Amino acid sequence: VGHVKNVCFVGAGFVGGPTAAVIAYHNPQIQVTVVDLNEERISAWNSSHLPIHEDGLLKVVRIARDGTLDTIFSLPGFADCIHLKARQPNLMFSTAVVEAISISDIIFICVNTPTKTQGLGSGAMADISAIEGATRSIAKHARPGAIIVEKSTVSCGTARMIQEILEYHRPETSFEILSNPEFLAEGTAVQDLMHPDRILIGSAQTTPGLRAASTLQEVYAAWVPRDRIVTVNTFSSELSKLVANAMLAQRISSINSISAICEGVGHGADIGDVSLATGKDKRLGAKFLQAGVGFGGSCFEKDIRNLAYLAATLHLDVVVSDLNGSLRGKKISVLGFAFKDGTNDTRNSIAVHIIKDLANEMPREIAIFDPGCSPTQLDRVKICGSWRGAAQASSAVCVLTPWKQFRGCRAAVLVKSLNKEPDVSATVFKFVGKDLPEMDILELETIVRRSASESEDPLGRLKPLPSHLGDVVDWAEVAETMQEPRWVFDGRNVVDISELQTLGFRVKGIGKGF
Ligand code: UDX
Repeated sequence: VGHVKNVCFVGAGFVGGPTAAVIAYHNPQIQVTVVDLNEERISAWNSSHLPIHEDGLLKVVRIARDGTLDTIFSLPGFADCIHLKARQPNLMFSTAVVEAISISDIIFICVNTPTKTQGLGSGAMADISAIEGATRSIAKHARPGAIIVEKSTVSCGTARMIQEILEYHRPETSFEILSNPEFLAEGTAVQDLMHPDRILIGSAQTTPGLRAASTLQEVYAAWVPRDRIVTVNTFSSELSKLVANAMLAQRISSINSISAICEGVGHGADIGDVSLATGKDKRLGAKFLQAGVGFGGSCFEKDIRNLAYLAATLHLDVVVSDLNGSLRGKKISVLGFAFKDGTNDTRNSIAVHIIKDLANEMPREIAIFDPGCSPTQLDRVKICGSWRGAAQASSAVCVLTPWKQFRGCRAAVLVKSLNKEPDVSATVFKFVGKDLPEMDILELETIVRRSASESEDPLGRLKPLPSHLGDVVDWAEVAETMQEPRWVFDGRNVVDISELQTLGFRVKGIGKGF
């Protein structure tokens, strides 16, 4: 963290105070200042009666705010020879907002974002006027190159709004805005900060954005293992915070509704037993399954409302609208019919419903291919024996089952032919210590990519691609036979979007915003 000397936290509340204290505690070389306009709150932080009661907080604040004086008596008989190993204070609480902002390398915005109570989005949208206020001061006083960190829980797009305010007030300087939401829970704040499940950092995916993210990452790496520091783009980060709280609340609501069933069933049905037994499933986990009369607190309801508002205001597109609102005269191909990959089971497969909906739009033809099952005969639908036939002359390909064969990459396409070439199989064996038939397609793909990036090419001699590809989709060939603009709607996120884009497809993956 060599070049980070001063950081400040704007807002000495529940998030700003404890977070600043723990960052200061673990980074004694960084000067941390927490500022707030509320003098009473600041003087409480400067006393031994902190405005927030959390286990261990006073201890951490004392060490960082007041410094420590370790006395070590060196040799017996030399009791007067004392080595002082002092820790200098590096945590300050102050009302001098402008001064703190103007010297900081990193500025954390930790102000309140309550739900709006009036006007547009009342009862749902986050009120970000405090963030706007803080941003205006930052715009006026921050030194060029300072990194602005949005720590308050906000709606998606707030980082961009902060950026716009800064650009308006300081057009000559460019600032990087990071999203770094806090996940601490009240009552366990210090414990959560000391041992976080993850630190989330969202940044612009540009060189300066990534550099800013790595600067902040270094501050946390003073005590958080690297594999717990997750870096993503700004929007994903802002959204993740809301989603985490919504999902936690959802679990509580689910178990609460089951508790009512226990009471109704009688005969000793016990929600404690149900929580215990359910929570043992590793996929579910034991936490947040404690039934009660309902959840409270300042976060869950606010964040759920915020998320619901966001969902309601988005106009979510479907296949039909991307094809100019009509499927008439067009061929649509469907890859996958089973309810999941690796099975021939088609019971309740969602594909049936999607295909029926598509058929209602009166396309010229719907052609289905599934490598592992025989699709049910449906009205106005053609079942194909290969992906080639299904994709031929279609306007859109819809991937509905996550078969690995649909992933389609050079490695995947090679697999079939590789098996037939003993020489090549031996090369692969030497390279990865595994015989080819035992290898997973994805594993082979990773190897091909790695070897390409290290500019070795142990598999290079396998080019050119063979023509007998079997079930493995060769997207390059699909591109040649499809109608422009070659839509691929990947309903299972199996294809490699950038690879397909390079081949000239327009690709939409589930949950991949642009
Ligand atoms: C929550 C999140 O846990 C935290 O990550 C986020 O940063 C802020 O929101 P908090 O509101 O402080 O933290 O408290 P939490 O411990 O999550 O409890 C919230 C509510 O859920 C409480 O009313 C609690 O009683 C209730 N709850 C929790 C249950 O009813 N059952 C459970 O199993 C867990």
